[in-house]
Amino acid sequence: MTPVWFMRQAGRYMPEYRKLRERYSILDLCHTPELAAQVTLQPVERLGVDAAILFADILLPFEPLGLGLSFAAGEGPHIANPVGRQADVERLPVLDPEQDLGYVLEAVRLARAALPKDVPLIGFAGAPFTLASYAIEGGSTRTFTRTKTLMYQAPDTWHLLLGKLAELVGRYLAAQARSGAQALQLFDSWVGCLSPQDYNTFVLPHSRRALALASESGVPVIHFGTGTASFLEDFAGAGGAVVGVDWRIPLDAAWRRIGESRAVQGNLDPAALLAPAAERDAQVRDILARAGGRPGHIFNLGHGVLPETDVGAVRAVVDLVHGG
Ligand code: CP3
Repeated sequence: MTPVWFMRQAGRYMPEYRKLRERYSILDLCHTPELAAQVTLQPVERLGVDAAILFADILLPFEPLGLGLSFAAGEGPHIANPVGRQADVERLPVLDPEQDLGYVLEAVRLARAALPKDVPLIGFAGAPFTLASYAIEGGSTRTFTRTKTLMYQAPDTWHLLLGKLAELVGRYLAAQARSGAQALQLFDSWVGCLSPQDYNTFVLPHSRRALALASESGVPVIHFGTGTASFLEDFAGAGGAVVGVDWRIPLDAAWRRIGESRAVQGNLDPAALLAPAAERDAQVRDILARAGGRPGHIFNLGHGVLPETDVGAVRAVVDLVHGG
């Protein structure tokens, strides 16, 4: 049976999550291990998914880094002290995950203890490029203008920043594994904004370093990105036992290019969950047919569940993947 879970499976589309959010901010939920563990379990109970993903956020390390992090309602993340110059990067402290992000590791321990034995817990972190884009832009962006300007204008500063982020997330992921995470996912959500050449020059060595450090923990690492179809071989070459792909490439074509020896995760368009049931189910069946029943396919979306999604549609996909 093909295993299935969803990125952002705990989130605003879920009534029990929205209920908690009436009382607590997103950062409150992340900072309170008992609440983070509770949210981690919500989709397991509601959807019957085969894995839980820790409730946290890729931007949490920005707090101990001194960058400042807040979430304004409907506006996404805001970074108060973005990184722009060499001195900003030099100043970034080396974090100790146990000390500086201990509340995340405590949430891992609590969630692991509360989950059914046969439901693995996935820990995660942001990849160096995606984290750098938020650190430089100060928030979300469509164009990555500041990010690419720094990359081209100050390559030494760029590589210093990504090198520091790679060490940080690699060690943070390994700490999550030591705390009880049984798989780890590195989110390179925005890497698809780069050309293949720039991916290779400016990003790949740092992702490789982060993935290698995480893999030393001995648990499988999922290397996820979106918009990677134009450099999928290189992206897969950076590492990860599992490569996550989005819907912009058919799963069978992606798997051939990643290599049959690796596992793949994906790749339903999150918007398919907003489609009529017949269309949604046809897309799910198409992905399963392209995987051809070969071992090593983890069913997921190509990116996170959209807040507008109906819980029933998500549940229906789980049941269909499970053979219903
Ligand atoms: O997947 C899960 O269920 C686990 C929890 C999780 C969250 N963020 C909780 C969250 C995970 C894996 C993330 C990762 C994350 N965070 C990424 C990479 C994955 C991706 O979606 O591409 C990124 C880029 C972020 C940064 C971030 N955090 C953004 C852009 C936002 C959205 C802000 C908004 O208002 O929509 C967040 C907030 C956030 N993190 C939410 C959740 C459930 C929604 C906010 C809320 O509850 O108000």
